[in-house]
Amino acid sequence: MSKNFLILANLKRTIMIASQPSQPLKFDGCFHGGAFFQAIGERFETLDLRQQIINADVLDAWFPPAPRVIAALNEHLPWLLQTSPPINCGGLIDVITEVRGVDRSHVLPGAGSSDLIFLALREWLDRDSRALVLDPTYSEYTHVLENVIGCQVDRLRLSRDDHYRVPLDRLAESLQSGGYDLILLVNPNSPTGQFIFREALQSVLVSVPARTRVWIDETYIDYVDSEQSLERYASRTDNVVVCKSMSKVYALSGARVAYLCGSVAQIEPLRRLTPPWAVSLLAQVAAVEALRDPDYYAARHRETHALREQLAVGLSSLGWEVVSGCVNFLLAHLPDHQPTTPEVIANCRERGLFLRDVSSMGTVFDNRTIRVAVKAKETQRRMLEILNEVLGG
Ligand SMILES: Cc1ncc(COP(=O)(O)O)c(C=O)c1O
Repeated sequence: MSKNFLILANLKRTIMIASQPSQPLKFDGCFHGGAFFQAIGERFETLDLRQQIINADVLDAWFPPAPRVIAALNEHLPWLLQTSPPINCGGLIDVITEVRGVDRSHVLPGAGSSDLIFLALREWLDRDSRALVLDPTYSEYTHVLENVIGCQVDRLRLSRDDHYRVPLDRLAESLQSGGYDLILLVNPNSPTGQFIFREALQSVLVSVPARTRVWIDETYIDYVDSEQSLERYASRTDNVVVCKSMSKVYALSGARVAYLCGSVAQIEPLRRLTPPWAVSLLAQVAAVEALRDPDYYAARHRETHALREQLAVGLSSLGWEVVSGCVNFLLAHLPDHQPTTPEVIANCRERGLFLRDVSSMGTVFDNRTIRVAVKAKETQRRMLEILNEVLGG
């Protein structure tokens, strides 16, 4: 029996053990990546199994948090766990203010952008509201709008032929129409990896009518350039709000920390609805330390481009049509003669590789579209080896 076969058989067995389901809970929320936790075990009894799986189904950073983040947490861990955090994230707001150049009253932290999305959208909209989203885009937005709030959602369809670029003329028309209570933009967009430059976006935002709020989700923007952010612009406008997750660009997905940036009139009503100690002490300390080390992160973001190019070459060599991106993931279309996305995903999963089926992220996809996260060089080599095996190459 070959060594590889034994490793694979062992991996399948341990994944099966770890994934024995506990009592199933009814959850009719949005579909997300993260199936890899079934392999590791959600009771965390076999956390070491993480070394045997590749979680390219979520877009967590491929690099660890800055050394000073880890040092601060290591040094004070018992105290950080046993202590109540600053009630309203005062210090975190101060550091965001210093680093990002916006005033304190314009910043509202939350426990990840998901927390802020649920807070703001449910406060601003009701069943009679009308919203516009990109199609495809991050699906939590359509879930909250359609299933949680129950409002009308229009879709600005992006075309494969145009590499899913956002057509600025059509966006401008929608923005100016005055028909929307909220327009949601994810920039760079997920799962397409397409980006609208700051000046181009600002030039269409100037004509937004006062009744329309614009939400700009900049979860991945630092991979392009942190100076492209519209945080400062949003704080000067009446109705543009920027949502900055710290998960993916600061390698803090597990910590749960993000912030909103907008006018005082937009932010203050939401601050009143934010519970005390909303962001854990570990997350506040991690976020503050991360914000203080822009050089470390800028270097990792630059390295991401080379890794993404290597991944793109590898995926193209499988016969996949790769949509060129600018962040830490790639979208690809599988050719007709290959298995479908669900088949590829199921076969990769047996080998410990988790990839993301994006069909739930828009109405424009068939079952031959897949999203792959950028990983470290050696991990990407292994990913491509597994994909070659699965595709019979
Ligand atoms: C575009 C986008 N916005 C928001 C989120 C949620 O991020 P957070 O970890 O801050 O809740 C994600 C997560 O994948 C995302 O892709």
